Amino acid sequence: MNILVVNGPNLNLLGIREQNIYGIDTLDDIENWINDELSGSNIKLQWYQSNHEGKILDRLHRAMNDKKDGIIINPGAYTHYSYAIRDAISAISIPTIEVHLSDIKSREKFRQTSVIQDVCLEQISGLGKNGYLEAIYALEKYLNR
Ligand code: DQA
Repeated sequence: MNILVVNGPNLNLLGIREQNIYGIDTLDDIENWINDELSGSNIKLQWYQSNHEGKILDRLHRAMNDKKDGIIINPGAYTHYSYAIRDAISAISIPTIEVHLSDIKSREKFRQTSVIQDVCLEQISGLGKNGYLEAIYALEKYLNR
């Protein structure tokens, strides 16, 4: 099973930015931890991070040619207003799960709206790095249904 994990703007600063909200792990730490958790499984993850909306769109489009089975996306602040990312997820028709490290529903008003939520299978929010693992298991369950 091939899964693309997309992280949007400012997630390259994990480990430095607002540790009280996002924790002390860097994105690399999270990637390495998940790879360890999945060792021995047949799940292959490809991680991608960009601070640029257009690059995220291009990566999502390429997922069709790459024949990815599923996508996990934490679009960072784009979650709250990027209709372009929403349309890309809808266009490529690859099962996608939305992940947020923090609990966006209990934060500022502008974070409580996700414009991508209803083109995703599920939204997982507030579980920290465990959210990525939960998303992988949810995709696995969905794809093997
Ligand atoms: C985030 C929540 C967003 O509101 C924020 O802009 C981020 C990270 C999260 O993982 O909790 O950059 O997506």
